[in-house]
Amino acid sequence: MKSLNRRVFLSSSLAVLGAAGIHLPLWARTGAISPAQSSPGQLLLGVDYYPDQTPESLWEEDAQMMAETGITNVRIAEFAWALMEPSEGTFDFSWLHRSVDILRKHKLAVILGTPSAAPPPWLSQKYPEIFEVNERGEKLHPGGRRFTCPTNQTYRQLSLAIATEMARAFASDPGVIGWQIDNEYTLGSSGRCYCEYCQAGFQKWVRQKYHSLDEVNRTWGAAFWSQIYTDWSQIPVPLPSGADPNPGLTLDYYRYQSYANASFNDEQLAVLRKLCPKHFVTTNNVGLPLDTIDERMLYANLDFVSFDNYPGFFKMYMQQQSKSAMVPWDGITIAVALGHDFGRSLKGKPFMIMEEQSGKAGQTTFSPQPDKGQVRLWTYQAIAHGAMGVNYFRWDTATFGTEEYWHGMLNHDRSKSPAFDEIKQTLNELKSLGPELLNSQYDSDAALLFDYDCSWAVKIQPQHFALSYTEQAATWYGCMSPTHTGIDVILPGMDLAKYKIVFAPVVYVLAKDQAERIKSYVQGGGVFVTNFRLGAKNEVSQIVRTPLPGLLRDMMGVTVSDYVPIYSPGQKVKFASALAGDDADVKLWADILQPQTAEVLGTYLSGDHAGEAAITVNRFGKGKAVYIGADLSVPSLARVLMTFAAQAGVKRVEAPAGIELTTRRSEKKSWTFVLNHTSSPQKVRVPGSYRDALTQAAVTGTIDLEGYGVRVLQAA
Ligand code: GAL
Repeated sequence: MKSLNRRVFLSSSLAVLGAAGIHLPLWARTGAISPAQSSPGQLLLGVDYYPDQTPESLWEEDAQMMAETGITNVRIAEFAWALMEPSEGTFDFSWLHRSVDILRKHKLAVILGTPSAAPPPWLSQKYPEIFEVNERGEKLHPGGRRFTCPTNQTYRQLSLAIATEMARAFASDPGVIGWQIDNEYTLGSSGRCYCEYCQAGFQKWVRQKYHSLDEVNRTWGAAFWSQIYTDWSQIPVPLPSGADPNPGLTLDYYRYQSYANASFNDEQLAVLRKLCPKHFVTTNNVGLPLDTIDERMLYANLDFVSFDNYPGFFKMYMQQQSKSAMVPWDGITIAVALGHDFGRSLKGKPFMIMEEQSGKAGQTTFSPQPDKGQVRLWTYQAIAHGAMGVNYFRWDTATFGTEEYWHGMLNHDRSKSPAFDEIKQTLNELKSLGPELLNSQYDSDAALLFDYDCSWAVKIQPQHFALSYTEQAATWYGCMSPTHTGIDVILPGMDLAKYKIVFAPVVYVLAKDQAERIKSYVQGGGVFVTNFRLGAKNEVSQIVRTPLPGLLRDMMGVTVSDYVPIYSPGQKVKFASALAGDDADVKLWADILQPQTAEVLGTYLSGDHAGEAAITVNRFGKGKAVYIGADLSVPSLARVLMTFAAQAGVKRVEAPAGIELTTRRSEKKSWTFVLNHTSSPQKVRVPGSYRDALTQAAVTGTIDLEGYGVRVLQAA
């Protein structure tokens, strides 16, 4: 992760080339190493390792120590381009073969990374056209990583060439089980590239999408400010141009950039599928609240989702941004849970943490040192939310380079890090949980709808300077966390019918087909809870010409008579008895609702709209549609969301603050994870009779958890 993306994290807290080749099930593919290690009976429990940065004399010792620690897989080589292709077209994998052989000798399966995120100096020198241009129009320079353009054909061909040679060299290597393509797409300094190649790529993409310039001009409203294009080559990218760019063009540009990165990924994927049909293929990214790339597109053709997870780094970053105000762990752990739920929901199956923080993280400054027990807790949190594997970042701590302070499992002097023994214990515990866990489903009655179009359109036009879609999504998610109900984080087009309730904040951009899906969900008995700016724009980012909430007006049973950004304190909402509670402050926004068929559950208390509706519920078919027109203060919002969840039949488990409970369920078994994210001991009343999966003790009633403690309970 790099600066902008860390900033984006804070501020928010298909692929066209169909991949070729045979799609064996994941476990058939991981079977490449040795059935004992990678049969369906095993989680992927590993470490990220850099033989390219470690003297060869230490490789044997490293592998032996890893094996003794209980590690089963290792990810290597994702930044080793310069060593694998020392000059253009000259490949040397001898060192990598030696490393893979040593690892295999110790029964450590290898995930190979293709190195396209960090091109070598010979390449940068010879092909300076490959550099990314950031959103201010500045060209990036070599020396770091992720400084390249995703569209540039030269760069794509060179990336494909090294990936192809790697694939040829390791296709039948028994030590290799899978691939990570590239590393953290779009997590560079600016997230998107605005260079001349991207402009040409965008023009082509726009042409394929709209076919005629008339259609482009009409869709983007090019009549405004004399932007009518008469030739495809005139279409610009949204670089500084004296005023904010055209919102329709910019939304399409964000979509194009996602496509460019995903298709870059799919080019390498196609080669890996063809040459290495027995291997799995993934890429590592970070989940929500980061939104610079459409991850559904990115992972569409990959075998599974993998994410990088650095809770301590995230905390440091948040504190830095809030000018040192202490940021409590609560918010961080909820944001991490949101990322995990998104990772699982993206493909509706187990995901992997490709990099998990194992020590103090940092490049120029350090994150907090994980407290004793926290690395184990973070590992269990991932498993609790549906992970099938965790790799710790990183094995040894580099003694040179930009990340020499990103601490791993071994210190600089190769002594064990403070978390080393804890990780060893965790790995051994996880192995004892048994094979069925891998085939289990996560229990979730509720869904949070996340829509990249809405997120990007709100970023392009926040409407209130402090409004952020990702922050709204994270807040709604956080409001539900005290109920301990499982939440899937889904995208438009995904099945709604299986959820008792769907939460959908700021549905600012609404496509016709999605509106139809939402309607039939509610008609069939679902509960849909949404808020202000509903349906204001269509999918091409034009404001609808009908009264709001546009396509969902009949379902919501209201008309929005006015919408009001809030800039002065004092505006409040008073609740009707069905939502009884203290009057709520209105933060950033107020949609003024005029009920047609809806019942009013909250009214504005003062100002021009005193007495008018702020919150409504409408019966539609067999279900209900709830409109929260006001941006409610968090405690009130939480109360409202929890009330509707309870009415929808979502079960709530009571537990002290800082405790998290989740359940994974297979056909015959269930595992309830109880996680204490606080440093103090806690008592938790568990909702049934269980057997402790780690100690085998019978468990019922109230259990004791030590600070950062974890219990895994199987239904008795
Ligand atoms: C991740 C990245 C790794 C490493 C790590 C520590 O975001 O994938 O390559 O850089 O952060 O900075």
